[in-house]
Amino acid sequence: MHRRILVPSVLTASLLLAIPASAADASPGAPGIGDPYYPAGGNGGYDVSHYDLRLRYQPRTDLLEGTATLLATTRQNLSRFNLDFGLDVGDVRVNGRKASFARTGDHELEITPAAPLEKNKPVSVVVTYAGKPSELKIGGWTAWHRTPDGGVAAQEPDSAVWWFPSNDHPLDKATYDVSVSVPDGTQAISNGVLQSQSSRLGWTRFNWRSNKPQASYLATLAVGRFDITTDRTAKGLPVLNAYSVDLGDNAGAARASVERTAEVAEWLEGLFGPYPFNALGGYVPNVTSGFALETQTRPFYSPRQFANGANVSVVVHELAHQWYGDSVSVKGWKDIWVNEGFARYSQWLWSQKEGEGTAQELADYVYALHPADDPFWTVKPGDPGPDKQFDIAVYDRGALALQALRNEIGDEDFFAILKGWPAAHANGNAAVGDFVRYAEKVSGKPLAGLFDTWLYEPSKPAGGVGAAGAA
Ligand code: ARG
Ligand code: ZN
Repeated sequence: MHRRILVPSVLTASLLLAIPASAADASPGAPGIGDPYYPAGGNGGYDVSHYDLRLRYQPRTDLLEGTATLLATTRQNLSRFNLDFGLDVGDVRVNGRKASFARTGDHELEITPAAPLEKNKPVSVVVTYAGKPSELKIGGWTAWHRTPDGGVAAQEPDSAVWWFPSNDHPLDKATYDVSVSVPDGTQAISNGVLQSQSSRLGWTRFNWRSNKPQASYLATLAVGRFDITTDRTAKGLPVLNAYSVDLGDNAGAARASVERTAEVAEWLEGLFGPYPFNALGGYVPNVTSGFALETQTRPFYSPRQFANGANVSVVVHELAHQWYGDSVSVKGWKDIWVNEGFARYSQWLWSQKEGEGTAQELADYVYALHPADDPFWTVKPGDPGPDKQFDIAVYDRGALALQALRNEIGDEDFFAILKGWPAAHANGNAAVGDFVRYAEKVSGKPLAGLFDTWLYEPSKPAGGVGAAGAA
């Protein structure tokens, strides 16, 4: 009995061993990483560990050109694989050998190496490219903000395809060296530490390093004429802020806000534990769009954030994301509440510290602001759908969920959770369900019902968000 089965299986195994695994069963990597909100986002079959971008940008023409070197590890035997990218590609090499490539679908760069790649092996990919990012529109949308003196890549959930080839999803984080050459008198701003800057032949090169895992949408590039301030925090971390020289009437308010970055980060450390990265700062380019974004170590702020005077609250929001969003990133884009609910709640705590209304008062205000028939209550912060990913309800109803949690479990457990979560998932990824289980573990209380009410019911929860027992 046993022998009849054993003999053929041993034969099969030895036959397989004779053929290189890569040739035997290599298949294409998936064109998406498997996020239902953005099926083409990211790619399958490999993990990137490091991006080295060596670029040159001419503000006059908006031409961006250069070379991206990606260091990755294969996760399957690969006959070919995809990167996400929108600019024109000149040449691709994989492990030093010229590879063929094709442009397909939704800004996919499909790369076929000279020979199949074996699973769990290091692989290097070198892509040379050039293009004008302002000419790339995806569904009428662009993440590239052309300015009178340069351009800026900043957008969520997508910005990388406008300026470098990547595995464009927060599940695949990597470290970055970004080296950008710009005409003398112009600056190039990116994430992390400015390692060096030097000029020759009329061009100045800025070398930036972001040395902790970073999601592709949190990588940023800003070229233009900036005033730069530098300092160190009490703990010695470098702080570098950059302000367009062209902020007009908003210049004072922008500086009066962003220059408080180190102070705000120190306050947030009291809530969330040690700051997760090696550098701090912010930048305010002369863009016309109005938002802000938690680009890693160095948030992006539109000048319009400062149109009414200083706005330290937006600095609190973007710096809170350094823990909630950047160090602990979403697993899928449906998990956006683990970023935005907490960044908004941090603003409420800052308001309380400033004597401008307690978190409970702001929660009561937001609850009362939206009547039961307001579409606000139909948005589910725990799974809002791609069209509602950045709806105000993800932020405000998302923060109400945290006030409800605080009232249910008490301040001691609540603040232990706020501090414990960034440590539990540092430099990783987490889903809404992971947070619910974490809060249940710390508090020892069943909380599925509470989170269902505040994050998933498509209607206004009855009874307000009052203190425990009052609802
Ligand atoms: N995470 C960003 C924030 O902190 C949201 C950016 C959304 N994008 C946009 N164009 N509004 O607010
Ligand atoms: Zn936010």
